Amino acid sequence: MDRHDVVILDKLCHACLVDAARASGATLRVFPHNTLGKLEDHLHWARREHPDARVLVLTESVFSMDGDRAPLAEIVELKAIHGALLLVDEAHALGVIGRNGRGLAAELGVAAGVDIHLGTMSKALGVSGGYIAGSRSLVDLLVNRARPFIYSTAQPPALAAAAEAAVDFLLTDEGERRRLALWQNIRLLAARLPPAPLALPDPLPANTPAIPALLNRAPRKAGGSAIFPWIVGAEHDAVDFSSWLAKMGFFAPAIRYPTVAKNSARLRLTVTARHQPEQIMELGKALAELVRTIH
Ligand SMILES: Cc1ncc(COP(=O)(O)O)c(C=O)c1O
Repeated sequence: MDRHDVVILDKLCHACLVDAARASGATLRVFPHNTLGKLEDHLHWARREHPDARVLVLTESVFSMDGDRAPLAEIVELKAIHGALLLVDEAHALGVIGRNGRGLAAELGVAAGVDIHLGTMSKALGVSGGYIAGSRSLVDLLVNRARPFIYSTAQPPALAAAAEAAVDFLLTDEGERRRLALWQNIRLLAARLPPAPLALPDPLPANTPAIPALLNRAPRKAGGSAIFPWIVGAEHDAVDFSSWLAKMGFFAPAIRYPTVAKNSARLRLTVTARHQPEQIMELGKALAELVRTIH
């Protein structure tokens, strides 16, 4: 994308997507998290005001600090209607969602409608580095023109080989069994997680105001991914709770502004396939104890 183009992104997109959009020099428009009505307004606006521009929509399939999913099928439909391109960051869906962990676009059967598939090897694959996948012409363009790719040293072979081995493992029956074990743990934590002191609503109605204004409404359903935000609001509470849990043997990082909106500090809980049910139940009890001490 360049200064003649338009990039439209979800408000909760990861910093790397925001920075890339800014670095492109394109005109930017942000839509409130998962708010299709506003995305559609921006698409209409882009077509009207910039009829010759390329228009690129950016979203994540699973949001990194909220653990919820984008309405991907609807976004694919919208971008097709308006002749836009779509980039989906599957960082937190790869290895977790869809058969053999192929991601949310694959699970919903809309992968062909996603022009640019982006992901990282640093989450489920347990390595480092990332990938961009798309059409032959997209790949040729990036290999020849993407400056951060061209002017930075390549992945060390050992890491590339480890990432490849992780992908191969995902494609095996054992890999799929481990992914299903992860989902058992996700369901268990969703069932055992006491309501957080503050909660975000789900689904977000069309054209909603900024996220902080929505605190204290009906809770978002947990369990759409391996990420569980436990929202406490104040930053010092998040840090205190995280330290208290650390003493009990739980690693529950405190996530604060500017990674998340002000007044929505949270513990970011994640489960893996290797957690034991007892560990998850103990965490549920520890959080319930925390809630009792707050009230
Ligand atoms: C949605 C999303 N995209 C991209 C990244 C960047 O991944 P990496 O740290 O492997 O570069 C992250 C992780 O931090 C992420 O959460």
